Amino acid sequence: MLDTSTAAPFSTLIRSATEQQHAEAEHSTFMRDLLTGELGVEAFYRYTSQLWFVYEALEKHSAALASDPVAGPFVQPGLARLAALEADLAYLGGANWRDELTPLPSTAAYAARIEECATEWSAGYVVHHYTRYLGDLSGGQVIRGTAEKLWNLPKKGDGVRFYVFDDISNPAAFKREYRENLDGLPIDGADVERVLDEARLAFTMNTDVFRELGAEFSARN
Ligand code: HEM
Repeated sequence: MLDTSTAAPFSTLIRSATEQQHAEAEHSTFMRDLLTGELGVEAFYRYTSQLWFVYEALEKHSAALASDPVAGPFVQPGLARLAALEADLAYLGGANWRDELTPLPSTAAYAARIEECATEWSAGYVVHHYTRYLGDLSGGQVIRGTAEKLWNLPKKGDGVRFYVFDDISNPAAFKREYRENLDGLPIDGADVERVLDEARLAFTMNTDVFRELGAEFSARN
């Protein structure tokens, strides 16, 4: 069992526990091909459409989770991404974007797992929240800049609104506070390991989506 009296703060534990999975996600073939311009804007559109399912699951239970003692501090209206994703999809996909919205099997599994945590295990939900929103505020900014250049999208405008957090004026300060909230999570002992396992799963589920997107687009070329 983990000795929590000497263990590193939880924000450090979760970061190091997922370091390898983060590298795998970041260097996945799909991400690389997308961000080097190997794939076209239609791949970016398809990727964005998968995010819709992920954020729908993350944000569907926000109202209930806002008053949850564990997840409550993390659920903040300024983070909500679904409306921005819908604006991006309408811009990238045109009037039919909703009809074209279909989850890959890996996306459906990922969204189902988020929803299971949202309704049954709030510490698990926090892990999924961390994996997405803190990532969007970090590496997501690299993706935005690259997408704007590659496909000539309006800067911080339609197509990349998902990556623009208007309500977060100081991302570095926001991330610091977020990590303090992680450090204050009321979990210890065996629960820490269970939560870290869920964090590794969250990253793996992202990589699974990249793998399926990669297969879809390599099959087209
Ligand atoms: C092109 C792809 C990616 C790049 C370039 C990238 C880059 C980065 C960078 C530079 C940081 C550190 C920022 C900081 O310390 O403030 C970071 C943090 C993070 N990234 Fe990524 N990332 C990518 C993909 C992903 C993916 C796919 C996920 C998961 C869905 C993810 C989740 C995270 C998380 C949760 C953090 C915060 C780590 C922490 O401080 O605890 N990233 N990323």
